[in-house]
Amino acid sequence: MAIGLLTAVVLGALFGSALAWLGLRSRQAGTHVRLSMIEKDLAAARSELVRQQEANAKLREQVAALESTLQHERKSSAEKLDLIDRATEELREAFQLHTKAIILNTPNNPTGKVFSTKELEFIASLCREFDALAITDEIYEHITYDGERHVPIMTLPDMRHRSILVNSMSKTFSVTGWRVGWVVAAPDLSESIRKVHDFLTVGAAAPLQEASALALSFGDDYYRQLAAEYSGRRDVILNILEKAGFQCYRPKGAYYVMTDISRFGFADDVTFVRYLIETIGVAAVPGSSFYQNPLDGSQQIRFCFCKKYETLKSAGRKLLHLSPQ
Ligand SMILES: Cc1ncc(COP(=O)(O)O)c(C=O)c1O
Repeated sequence: MAIGLLTAVVLGALFGSALAWLGLRSRQAGTHVRLSMIEKDLAAARSELVRQQEANAKLREQVAALESTLQHERKSSAEKLDLIDRATEELREAFQLHTKAIILNTPNNPTGKVFSTKELEFIASLCREFDALAITDEIYEHITYDGERHVPIMTLPDMRHRSILVNSMSKTFSVTGWRVGWVVAAPDLSESIRKVHDFLTVGAAAPLQEASALALSFGDDYYRQLAAEYSGRRDVILNILEKAGFQCYRPKGAYYVMTDISRFGFADDVTFVRYLIETIGVAAVPGSSFYQNPLDGSQQIRFCFCKKYETLKSAGRKLLHLSPQ
């Protein structure tokens, strides 16, 4: 009995102990599971916090960058509008001074500017209002970039008889030494121009005129390829000049890049160009030579990129010896 009891007690004790042990273990195990779940949750929450902090820092950077871009764009578009207003005002004032003609070069050498239809319409309106002529140099008509299109002012309303369009073989057919060109003008104007031309030069060399006539019969592909070729060279030179520390005015047409040289700390453009030629081994044109007031261009120089790729790349290597401040 006692044994039985004992047995029962032992068994009971054992069983009870086992149950108690199991209960304890399972409570302990449960506690451990809960703890490790909380630890896991904490680690996940921490890493989420870090992720969010990083994302917030990135967002803050983005917001700051966008704010500064917006401010810059607002300022420069206000300046641009101001500049356009001032330019149109200045042009109108110039026309009021008994102006007989305006000489316009688009696409432009040296700036690479391509006048828009809107700008040309404004100039045409002044020509009509003040009964003035537009004499245009359109020698880079086929060399335009970024989808820009050259518009002859002569094609605008009531401009056929108010325009003298000047063009040449030089740039379109890469024959700059030929000096063969042409003028398109209304019959009365053309008659006077022919007379003056006859007295000045008599005429262009006959074989060059024949070759020019043949070149002018080339199809559209030729002109497309020409613009594509120069577009590639423009990208190369812009990259080279920016790497060397020049601030570039991105050309929309022609094959020149005007640059700001103020970062190099030279007294003026002529001194800098001399240094470029003699010490670096790359030639450019001083900006002052393009301004009525030379001082306006004293921190600018013009590069030309109608060159072979090897030549441009070799110039790029040499220009890396410059040290902008
Ligand atoms: C705007 C512009 N017009 C005219 C010329 C010279 O034309 P051509 O070679 O027919 O004399 C140049 C050449 O540099 C030029 O840049």
